[in-house]
Amino acid sequence: MSMPSSAMSSYPPLRLQVRTPRLTLAAATDELLERLVPVVRKGVAVSEPWPFDDPMSLYKENPEREWAWRRAIWAGRARVSEDFWRLYFVVIVDGEPVGMQDLIGTEFMTFGTVHTFSWLDPEVRGRGWGKEMRQAVLHLAFEGFGARETASEAFHDNLASNRVSQALGYEPNGVTWATRRGEAAALNRWRLTRERWAVARRDDIELVGVAECRPSLGISAAND
Ligand SMILES: CC(C)(COP(=O)(O)OP(=O)(O)OC[C@H]1O[C@@H](n2cnc3c(N)ncnc32)[C@H](O)[C@@H]1OP(=O)(O)O)[C@@H](O)C(=O)NCCC(=O)NCCS
Repeated sequence: MSMPSSAMSSYPPLRLQVRTPRLTLAAATDELLERLVPVVRKGVAVSEPWPFDDPMSLYKENPEREWAWRRAIWAGRARVSEDFWRLYFVVIVDGEPVGMQDLIGTEFMTFGTVHTFSWLDPEVRGRGWGKEMRQAVLHLAFEGFGARETASEAFHDNLASNRVSQALGYEPNGVTWATRRGEAAALNRWRLTRERWAVARRDDIELVGVAECRPSLGISAAND
């Protein structure tokens, strides 16, 4: 699949792309979200240990799951200011949408810190794509937006997500608590500084549309 949809939008956050040799993060236009619906319909969280904290649309029954998922993305997309923004990307491999990778900035110009969140089609997990898409979004955060630090959280028993963070050089940053399906569980917190990211930064990741997007997120050149 070529990816004309995000390239053709005149709204800068919907023109963003991050390309690695294995996959592309393409800004989640409605067209791409529509193509991802079959993956959401399949049911993303089907067994314990539950990976997501509440509230999470992916725990609901269909069709509420799909509607709640869309509404959450539309709502998050609409909430763009210097204090908070969330960029939603559809992960595309060989032309097919297989999951999502989000990048969240809270008072980004003050703290220089971003958070990430992701999920993949259960059928394609364990192929290294989880790590690849995190590296892609880290490149956008550090290289594209000048971030100073990125953070991630995963429930203590979410082996894949914790391992992605650990493998990419994040350091443990304490424990916090959240509910999943109403039950309390411990969340591991992880942080990756710019200095640690720079040690293993990749030179084969391409950013598209970043300079045009930064003003729309309130990111000034001072963060470079
Ligand atoms: C988290 C997620 C995106 C990671 O993607 P993935 O394709 O499973 O992960 P990868 O194949 O890139 O593997 C990354 C690392 O985790 C390890 N790993 C993957 N699955 C694992 C498992 N079930 N148990 C132990 N280690 C595992 C891999 O061996 C690899 O480590 P390595 O670099 O030392 O070899 C994916 O598992 C997912 O969608 N999970 C459900 C949703 C979720 O948990 N989202 C995050 C919420 S915080």
